[in-house]
Amino acid sequence: MTQHQRLLIIDFGSQVTQLIARRLRELSVYCEIHPFNAVDDAFLKEFAPQAVILSGGPASVTEAGSPRAPQSLFDMQVPVFGICYGQQVMMEQLGGRVESGHHAEYGRAFIAPAEGHKGDGIFAGLFDTGREEVWMSHGDRVTQLAPGFEVIGTSPNAPYAMIADEARKFFAVQFHPEVHHTPNGRIMLENFIRMAGFTGDWTMASYREEAVRKIREQVGDKQVICGLSGGVDSSVAAVLIHEAIGDQLTCVFVDHGLLRLNEADEVVTMFRDTYNIPLIHADESDLFLGELEGVSDPEVKRKTIGKLFIDVFQKYAHQIEGAEFLAQGTLYPDVIESVSFSGGPSVTIKSHHNVGGLPEKMGLKLVEPLRELFKDEVRALGRELGLPTKFIGRHPFPGPGLAIRCPGEITREKLEILRKADAVFIDQIRKHGLYDDIWQAFVAILPVRTVGVMGDGRTYDFACALRAVTSVDGMTADYYPFSHEFLGETATRIINEVKGINRCTYDITSKPPGTIEWE
Ligand code: XMP
Repeated sequence: MTQHQRLLIIDFGSQVTQLIARRLRELSVYCEIHPFNAVDDAFLKEFAPQAVILSGGPASVTEAGSPRAPQSLFDMQVPVFGICYGQQVMMEQLGGRVESGHHAEYGRAFIAPAEGHKGDGIFAGLFDTGREEVWMSHGDRVTQLAPGFEVIGTSPNAPYAMIADEARKFFAVQFHPEVHHTPNGRIMLENFIRMAGFTGDWTMASYREEAVRKIREQVGDKQVICGLSGGVDSSVAAVLIHEAIGDQLTCVFVDHGLLRLNEADEVVTMFRDTYNIPLIHADESDLFLGELEGVSDPEVKRKTIGKLFIDVFQKYAHQIEGAEFLAQGTLYPDVIESVSFSGGPSVTIKSHHNVGGLPEKMGLKLVEPLRELFKDEVRALGRELGLPTKFIGRHPFPGPGLAIRCPGEITREKLEILRKADAVFIDQIRKHGLYDDIWQAFVAILPVRTVGVMGDGRTYDFACALRAVTSVDGMTADYYPFSHEFLGETATRIINEVKGINRCTYDITSKPPGTIEWE
């Protein structure tokens, strides 16, 4: 258990529960999300939160068997903040009343201060303009307050949109302060945590110190293997673990021959030379490219690479004597248990793409020092550990690498061309200062040759597609709106500088309906 001050978020299944955690982490408060059906009296006692937030959720408290918080929560004398369904749960459990139907509100709404209230306590700093813009998403609403509560703000369809019991430090709102569409939501959350006595002790420096101590405790004098992909997560995990246990860590970098230009060298140099981390560079490109010969079906490509990866990793890992642990860069969003209303808590923990199934197969225990972090916190930790900024800000790169950017059959010749074209595209993006505005950018080489004319001669070379998207999480994406000038200049550079390409297109498909990668 962390030694930081901690806040518990009880999840009732809202789509935006993770955002509550994000907002709090931004305020340097350590918090954990746990599904309502995994939080009982014993859990509360052990976790000993300094404050609790009850999330929204899709159920209706008016239905029999709908989710509740443990009743003991309200006797713990800790501040509680209920959001949407969380507000209704509080009212229901504390003696108020909630009714269903007829007064649904979805989207933007405006809250007016209740008579005699300009907003204070956790609502201090609001109503500057006389009303507060918020984002609503509710079907039920509170129709009678529980004893001790008073109304602070109302909306046309939610007479008890903001309520407070100052004496017990219980607060609740009908809307969602955690989403960006509630512009002053952050103020409410900040007021709440300050009032609950949080000092903001969740910093990357303290996390680093604590993580190092925990890794030492867990691993003792045993050996750890870490699969290094060259991506940010596994790299930060490796550097952190190395700081904790030094040469007891060995990294295995499987080079499948599908990496970008100079990527293998950069990874090897950085880890072996800069950080002095023992590293096995498993150059197995012949094996991978050999097995992929003649394969053009995307799924067969992925499966072939996935299986070989596991075989190769195992082969090298077996060379490391006495290894008992496997390090993984699992992040918090992969760990959060999703709420299930049809039974017990559903423990859906996604395994990491690249090493899925390995720990069981090899009988290794896991070291996952990033399990408590969100992606941007991993980047912050990387900076704290001194990893180069350019490296930390790198765009995501898929496990199967260039194989899925080379539709059709993969040949060494095509990979060579693709690497060069991709490097020119990224260079252009960096030169124009656009790299950090883009989620991911790359070139795909198309399985088609087209006719062109260069100088006095006819050419018959490959066509390529440029892909650049903006995205928050990779789940949805929009193509990046480059200027025509940029696109023209980039196409010219690629065709002039990369032998083998004579035509350049820009992919303007969003996701959905497209995917980011071409395969
Ligand atoms: P798609 O193409 O599905 O990609 O829109 C979404 C994000 O996931 C990355 N991606 C992968 N990452 N192993 C990975 O580690 C994979 O097999 C894989 N496939 C896609 C992709 O680059 C994008 O960021």
